[in-house]
Amino acid sequence: MTDPYLRFEDISVVFPGVRALDKVSFAAHAGQVHALMGENGAGKSTLLKVLSGVNRVTEGALWIDGQRHVFANAREALREGVAIIYQELTLSPNMSVAENLLLGQLPTRQGFVDRRRLKERALAILKDLGEGAIHPSTKVRELSIGQQQMIEIGRALLRDARIIAFDEPTSSLSVQETRQLKRIVARLRDEGRVVLYVTHRMEEVFEMCDAVTIFRDGKHIRTHEQMGTLTHDLLVSEMVGRDIDDVYGYRARETGDTVLSVESIEGRGINAPVSFTVKKGEVFGLFGLVGAGRSELLRLVCGVETPKGGSVTFNGTTRRFKSPGEAIRAGIAMCPEDRKSQGIFPVASVADNLNISCRRFFKRWGVFRHPGRERRNAEAYIQKLSVKTPGYRAPIGKLSGGNQQKVILARWLAEEIDLFVMDEPTRGIDVGARRDIYSLLYDLAEQGKSVVVISSDLAEVSSICDRIAVMRDGELIEVVERDEATPERLLGLALPA
Ligand SMILES: Nc1ncnc2c1ncn2[C@@H]1O[C@H](COP(=O)(O)OP(=O)(O)OP(=O)(O)O)[C@@H](O)[C@H]1O
Ligand SMILES: [Mg+2]
Repeated sequence: MTDPYLRFEDISVVFPGVRALDKVSFAAHAGQVHALMGENGAGKSTLLKVLSGVNRVTEGALWIDGQRHVFANAREALREGVAIIYQELTLSPNMSVAENLLLGQLPTRQGFVDRRRLKERALAILKDLGEGAIHPSTKVRELSIGQQQMIEIGRALLRDARIIAFDEPTSSLSVQETRQLKRIVARLRDEGRVVLYVTHRMEEVFEMCDAVTIFRDGKHIRTHEQMGTLTHDLLVSEMVGRDIDDVYGYRARETGDTVLSVESIEGRGINAPVSFTVKKGEVFGLFGLVGAGRSELLRLVCGVETPKGGSVTFNGTTRRFKSPGEAIRAGIAMCPEDRKSQGIFPVASVADNLNISCRRFFKRWGVFRHPGRERRNAEAYIQKLSVKTPGYRAPIGKLSGGNQQKVILARWLAEEIDLFVMDEPTRGIDVGARRDIYSLLYDLAEQGKSVVVISSDLAEVSSICDRIAVMRDGELIEVVERDEATPERLLGLALPA
C-alpha cells in the first residue's frame, strides 16, 4: 500500500478536567472511506476539530502528504485542503445557497460581486451533487437538513478539499437523503480523496467503509485496515471494552388498562383523523419514515400544537391540552428530538439542565431552591445513565452530543410523570449507552408508567416495543403486536404503497 496521505501522530487534547484525546496515532489513505467509531465522549468530534484547526492540540502533530502540520486555526487547515461536515451545520441561514456555496471566493467583476457568474457556478455544483432542483437564490434556512448538508459538501468540492470528514452525517436525514449521501461519499472516495466518517451506525460501516478506527476514552484502541473478517460483535466489544450480547435486552411484562386514548385527532401534519390507545406499563412504538407525521401527531396529543378536532382521554379525563405545560401538569411529558433548539440551555450546568423541567420551575418560583437535593438528583442520574462529564457543575454545552441527550432524558425521569413521549431518544447515542436507556424504559414501564417512543430505527422499534403503530403520509396505517412486528412487516407498512 502507498504511504498514507493523512497521519495523526501522538495527538493529545486536554480540556479543563478532561483528557479528550490521549496520544492518538493512526493513518488514513487516499481513496478510502475510514470510519471512526467509539462511545459517546470517546473523542471522535474532538479529533475532527483538531484536523480542522478548531481545537488546538496539547501535543502531537498531523502529517498531510508527507508534511508535518500543527494547525493554529481553521484557515490554515482550509489551506491544506481539509473540510469538515459537522454534526451541527455551519451555513448562514439568511444568505442564499449561491452565497453560502461560494463564500470566501465570490466571483467579482469590476469590484462588484458578479451575480451572473455566481449563479452559474452555484448551479453547476448543485447539478453535480444531484440537487439541480434547488434554486441558487433560495435562502439556506428554507432547505432541509439533508440539502444543507449537500451545500456544505459542495463547498468542500469547490475548494477541492483532499480530506473530507463527516461527523454523524446521516443522523437527521431521511431514507432518500441518506441514499444520496452514501452515493456522494463513494464518489469522493473514487476521486482519490481521504474520507473520514464518524458514525454510530454499524450497518453503514460495513456497507460503505474500507477501514475503521476505534476510540475509547480518548485513546486509540485499534485500526482495522480491512473490513474482510471484521464482525459486528468485535467492533462493539472494542468500543465498549466488554462483550454486549443483546443491546435491546427486552423484558416482557404485564400491561394494564388503557391510560391514554386518542380519538380522531386532527391537525397540522395529519391527513386523516388518528385514533390509538396506550396501556399502563406499555412501551408503545411509533414507526414511520421521516415526514410520516409521527412527531406532528404527538405534538397534537401533548398540546405543543392545537388539534383541529378529536379528543385525548388521559387517566380517565377527556380534554385537549392547550400547552405543553398543561400536559405536564396532567402527567404527560414530551422529550423533543431536536436538542439544540428545543432541549438544552448550553451555558447552564449539567445539574441545572437536569433539574429544570417546567414543574420544578413552577415550584421554585418565589420559593427556595434546594441546592442539596438538586445536586443529589443530578449525581444520581449522572451515575445511572453513565453521563460522561467532569462533574454536575460543568456547562452542558461542553459535553459530547450523546451525553447531552442523556441529560435531557434524565430531566423528566425525576418528575411525577405517568406517560413519557420520546422522540428519537437514542439518536446519536452509542451502543453501551443505548442499552442503559432501554433498560431505563423497561424500569419505567415496570413501575406502571407508559412510554411512547418515536423511532426511525427498525431494529430498535421492533425489539423494544410491546406494540408498534406505523404511520405513512400523515395517516396511522396499523397497530402491530410485538409478536408480529418483524422489521420486514413494519417497513412494508411504512413505505409508500
Ligand atoms: N470545548 C470543550 N471543553 C471541554 N470539554 C470538551 C470540549 N469539547 C469536548 N469536550 C469533552 O471531550 C470529550 C470528548 O468529546 P467528543 O465531543 O470528542 O466526543 P464524541 O466521541 O464526538 O462523542 P459523541 O458520540 O457523543 O458525539 C468529552 O468528554 C467532552 O465532554
Ligand atoms: Mg461527536
